[in-house]
Amino acid sequence: MTFHELIHQRESIRSYDARPVETEKLHRILQAGRLAPSACNRQPWTLYLVSKPENLQRLHQCYSGTWMYDAPHILVVAGQRDAAWTRKADGYNSLETDLAIAMDHMILAATAEDVGTCWIANFDPEKLKQSGLFKSEEIVFAFTPLGYPAKEAGRGNQKIRNDLSEMVVYL
Ligand SMILES: Cc1cc2nc3c(=O)[nH]c(=O)nc-3n(C[C@H](O)[C@H](O)[C@H](O)COP(=O)(O)O)c2cc1C
Repeated sequence: MTFHELIHQRESIRSYDARPVETEKLHRILQAGRLAPSACNRQPWTLYLVSKPENLQRLHQCYSGTWMYDAPHILVVAGQRDAAWTRKADGYNSLETDLAIAMDHMILAATAEDVGTCWIANFDPEKLKQSGLFKSEEIVFAFTPLGYPAKEAGRGNQKIRNDLSEMVVYL
């Protein structure tokens, strides 16, 4: 698969088979996160691979999408504000940028392994804090289920996007 085919193939999967993902595949997905760039190479992230049923259940309580419950794994990207780079000029902190890049690397790596994902941000941050799974000083940025798509999951790679002419400015 070429890079461009990979970009087209990735889509949000909201229906999962319960079959666990092979350890080697999970390792390669996590490696993609590890190799992501970050400002000043601070790598301000922790990558949580949640697979124990009792911990999956705790995460389910933090998000309303019951379609996620069948996925055998949930990958959570969290980080600490003071571990990320801050620009002196105006105080901009790169935490969310770094975590987004790590998550995107892993989502694309999962796609290359035929493993389905769906970026989730619409969770309840308070419930997540109370789940007891993460450090109190950590910001949970996003998570994604990881699992094989159930049959008929996805839209068959149809991309609903604005036209390039609406977003690109040639100067
Ligand atoms: C930052 C971000 C947050 C998202 N949060 C959610 C979410 O909480 N629940 C959900 O079902 N999808 C979520 N999505 C998935 C988007 O709805 C999806 O990427 C978009 O509709 C495009 O569809 P595609 O991923 O299939 O190409 C999120 C995506 C991004 C990038």
